[in-house]
Amino acid sequence: MSTSEGAIAVAHPNIALVKYWGKRDEHLVLPCADSLSLTLDVFPTTTEVRLHPHATRDYVTVDGVLARGETPRRITAFLDLVRDRAGRTERALVATRNTVPTGAGLASSASGFAALALAASHAYDLPLEPAVLSRLARRGSGSAARSIFGGFVVWHAGAPDAPDPDLASYAEPVTDARVDLAMVVVLVETGPKPVSSREAMRRTVATSPRFHDWLAATRGDLQAMRAALAGGDLAAVGAIAESNALGMHKTMENAVPPVRYLTDASRLVLDSVRRMRHAGTQAWATMDAGPNVKVLCAGDDAEHVAYELRELSDRPTVVGRSGPGATLRTGAR
Ligand code: PMV
Repeated sequence: MSTSEGAIAVAHPNIALVKYWGKRDEHLVLPCADSLSLTLDVFPTTTEVRLHPHATRDYVTVDGVLARGETPRRITAFLDLVRDRAGRTERALVATRNTVPTGAGLASSASGFAALALAASHAYDLPLEPAVLSRLARRGSGSAARSIFGGFVVWHAGAPDAPDPDLASYAEPVTDARVDLAMVVVLVETGPKPVSSREAMRRTVATSPRFHDWLAATRGDLQAMRAALAGGDLAAVGAIAESNALGMHKTMENAVPPVRYLTDASRLVLDSVRRMRHAGTQAWATMDAGPNVKVLCAGDDAEHVAYELRELSDRPTVVGRSGPGATLRTGAR
């Protein structure tokens, strides 16, 4: 086998309209509830995996810089899963480039592990069909299961009593959505987050008195969201997404010690969105494991909403629309 064996894949972040927050199995990365997202067409991650048979360990670069600590550890653990399934042992060079600030709650782990799953499975000669790839990406970072697919995507938690719980938890496209949704990303702050989503979820599940109610609410939101998407009801999509996101943050803010991702600057953007709505613009907000705010609106309104938010918040805005699933870079194996 030659050292030139490898593959390059590109994947985009997804932003959940109904959030994943809480695992029932940390090792297999099995969520407590289903979630639903939109894959965006902005901030792609490009990852190359090149086999390196003579190396004794994997080497990882992120944006051209050799990574140390937790990042290469997670990537090696993920590559071990792929190597195990492929019956291969070679180490690899992994070069990943993000166009989104890493660790700022802009879903770089979703695009990152989706691109890694696709590139690594091809580099190790293990082509997988999309649902299998989605399950594999899930093991790297839960939300990555959804970035394998484009557009609206639902991630099934899988029944806890399924004969093989790993098999039952994967994402798939929502094929009956009739809403043209855009997301205006307001870049409130782009530094790394204070608490990893992994630790924050663990803490929420273990200590938040609201966690049980959150789960019940999010299960209801999932059903309502599917109906709103199929019915082409943008106002319902926006309202459910906003209340789901606020519920998730409230739940983690009640953990011990509390997890607070939203800052004063995030709350100012939330106020602006409410004001815009009262003034007649259809706009709703969602926030993930970081202070940045994504504003949901109709595709036709996106440029105008982005302009208004830039004026109101004095922060950069980026318009995201429905984007593609993970793809191999042409020319790569
Ligand atoms: O995939 P993780 O472990 O980075 O978790 C991400 C969780 C949220 O982004 C906050 C919600 C979601 O469903 O994407």
